[in-house]
Order: sequence, then structure tokens, then C-alpha cells
Amino acid sequence: MNVIVVGLGYVGSVAAAALAEAGHRVLGVDKEPRVIEALRDGRPLIHEEGLAELVARCMAAGRLEFLHTSEVDRLDQETGLVCVGTPGLPTGGPDLSQVREALRWLKARATGPLVVAVKSTVPPGGGLHLMRQELSDSRLEYVANPEFLREGRAVHDWFYPDRIVIGARDRKASEQVAALYEGIEAPRVFTDITSAEVIKYAANAFLATKISFINEIANLCDKIGASVDDVVAGISPDPRIGPLFLRPGLGYGGSCFPKDVRALDFISLVNGHNFELLRSVISVNNRQRILPVHALREVFGSLVGVPVALLGLAFKPGTNDVRESPALEIMRLLAEQGAEVRVTDPMVRWDDLPETWGARFHRDPMEALAGARAAILVTEWPQLVGLEWPRVREVMEEPHLLFDGRNALDPGLLVSLGFRYRGVGRPRVSSVEGQAPS
Ligand code: UGA
Repeated sequence: MNVIVVGLGYVGSVAAAALAEAGHRVLGVDKEPRVIEALRDGRPLIHEEGLAELVARCMAAGRLEFLHTSEVDRLDQETGLVCVGTPGLPTGGPDLSQVREALRWLKARATGPLVVAVKSTVPPGGGLHLMRQELSDSRLEYVANPEFLREGRAVHDWFYPDRIVIGARDRKASEQVAALYEGIEAPRVFTDITSAEVIKYAANAFLATKISFINEIANLCDKIGASVDDVVAGISPDPRIGPLFLRPGLGYGGSCFPKDVRALDFISLVNGHNFELLRSVISVNNRQRILPVHALREVFGSLVGVPVALLGLAFKPGTNDVRESPALEIMRLLAEQGAEVRVTDPMVRWDDLPETWGARFHRDPMEALAGARAAILVTEWPQLVGLEWPRVREVMEEPHLLFDGRNALDPGLLVSLGFRYRGVGRPRVSSVEGQAPS
């Protein structure tokens, strides 16, 4: 099939390359010149495992091409994918202006019938609305085709999805979109447009709810001296609960969960439904990221002049994305309270951060840790989890406070090395094995 992909962020660039890999002829367009240049050079701006290789292979095979939107006058493709962003508005709802713009751009250039699979996250009811407003007098057919790709794992997730959801008005358009995924083994869920949109939000909101739920259990464990690790071990073998998305810590971040949960709350209110549960999910998540600041205040009293190392900036390992990362909020709060903040991350580009609150960046974690009195593990990068902790102990200063914001470290080991360890919902370990802490 001939496919046009509009918007080349992590969803669009992966979709374009993966469709080309599957044998389709793909044109990817974006309005950002540096995105196009980077992809043409085989160096995508976003870090996605396996993407650069896939792009290079498909471009060399002549099935994948990238153009700036201004370079395209007419389109002969029969299928389009819209993969542009739908950032959150201050009200909570998503901003659909980029989807609208992409539909207009396609409509102005399509020379024949075009089935448009919208992968951008459009709120329930939004697709029908856009269709009526933008496409009523055109030969474009709107199909909702939400994506479930995880950042950093998007190439893998494209080829091995749990399901493929296609929401359309007519069968022919559904089948045309389904044909894009031929050869991929996964259940197909065919539905109407609005239900497909709800599926996307329900999936993300449910996962976010699991995270906030286990964080609340962890907070309770902290109060009563129980172990959330043991609780997870005890509940997750039940297939009705399962082991995934039950890792407690500083909460969820990224460009999807925070925005989508807020948007679902907003859309529910607009439609006269008070989705109370989501409000709690959001407030628990906002609270989690403040935990290390409380822990430091408890130990130091005032944080003025206290050197603190933040280990990890990305919202999760395997990506250089810092959107809604808990690290930014922690960095801001610590800096506001006068701490001397040093930050390290193996992949994030410090110069791209919108604000750094006077913190200093060190690519080498040991430099960030040298002289620090406290360290906070924010992102469980293997490079950071696997630091040489005896050496870290040597370069840090009293009281060697270590806040493990992802419960990724071994408390027994760290305490035996002389750290003052704090996890989330983990009982405090004393330096003498088996003894309760004083
Ligand atoms: C998420 C979904 O997992 C994808 O299915 C979806 O397609 C995507 O959003 C989207 O809507 O585009 P992503 O944002 O890449 O993907 O990140 P996840 O791997 O799901 O993690 C989200 C956040 O939850 C991270 O900050 C992570 O640290 C946190 N998390 C995850 C926890 O705190 N605990 C867990 O047990 C799992």
C-alpha cells in the first residue's frame, strides 16, 4: 500500500519505518525541518531502540522517504496516518489543533479517496466532531486507530502489540486500515470511532490507577512498617491482579499518562460525569514526587546549602524524554529550598531543558555524587542502579542519605555499606542485620 504519515515524533517515525519494513511504500512528513533532516541522515532526534537501523534499511530499500510538509503539493496515497501531538491545555483537555491542521493539510493535497487512520490521542467524541467540521465535503474517511506504544520500546511494541484497535464508520475503511497490520499477530478489535477513543483513555487511565493504587499501599506500608515488596509478591500471582504496573515509587510521568488522565477527568466533567476516581489517581501521583523532599527535610531540617545529587532525569529509563518527569519537580523544589542540586542522566540533553533552577549537570554520575550529602534515585537506569556503591559511599559525605525513588536498590547491601537508605514502602533496615532500626 502507499502510505503517508503526518507527524514524525516517536509514534509517527516508528509507524513510518515499521510500515516500510512490512513492505508498504511510505512517505513521512513533518513541519519541523530539523526532524526531517535528522531522519534523512539516519539520526532520529528521539531515542527509540532499533529505529535508526530500521529507518536506514528502509530508506536504502527505497520504500521510505521523508519530506518537509512544504515540499508536498499533491498526494496519491490511499491511506494516511496522523501521528501529531495532542498536548494538554491548561483546562485539562487536549489541544487538537495539530490534528485539525494535519487533516486540513491532507484534504488540500489528496488527489483521490484517502482513508485517514488517526493515531493521535483524540478525546472521546473528538473524532466525530473533527470529521464533521473538517472532512464533511471531502473524500477523506476518518478512522480512529489508537496506539499503545511505550516510549523507548515503540519499535518492539509495533511488531508485537497486545491488540490492534480500529474504530470506523464503515467496514471498507476498517479493512483498509487493518491491511496495514497484515502479518502482525494480535487480536483485532473493530469498533465505532468513539469507542476506540475511549479504549485509548481507559487503557492509560487504568494503568495509571494501578500505579497510584500501589503507591498508596506503599505509603501505608511506610506508616506501619510493612514491606510493599512482600505485598506485591503476595498479590501479583493472582491472575486477576497480575504483576505489571505495580512498581511503587515517585509515580508516573511522561507525555501520556499525566495528560491523558487529566483529559479523561476533564472530558467526563464536560459530559456531565464526575469521574471521582481519577481525581484521586492524579493527587496521589502529585504527592509521590514530593516524598524525597520530605525525607530530606526530616533528616536535614533546612536544606539551605545541602549538596544533593539527583540520579536520573528522564521520566523512565530508555528514553531522553523529560516531559512531566518527577525529576523536574524535585529539582525545582530542592532548588527553591536552597539545596545545591547536582543532576546526572545518561541520555537526557541538559541544554534542551526549558528550566534548570540553577542546578548543575554532570554526565558522569560520580561527579554529581562527589561531596553530596544526599542522593535521590529518580530514574532506574541500569547504569545508575548498577553504580559501584562502595565507591559512591566513599565520595559522598555524611549522612550518606540515599532515597531510592524507584525501590530499585538493595537496601540490605546499602545499609551494610554505611548508607542511610530510604525506599518507598520498604521497612527501614538497620546496619546490624535482622535488627529493627532505632
Ligand atoms: C504509556 C503506555 O504504557 C503505552 O501503552 C501508551 O501507548 C503510551 O503511554 C501512550 O499513551 O502513548 P509510556 O508513557 O511510554 O507509555 O510509559 P510507561 O512505560 O507506560 O510508563 C509510564 C510511567 O509510569 C513512567 O513514568 C514509569 O516510571 C511509571 N511506572 C510504570 C511506575 O511508576 N510504576 C509501574 O509499575 C510502571
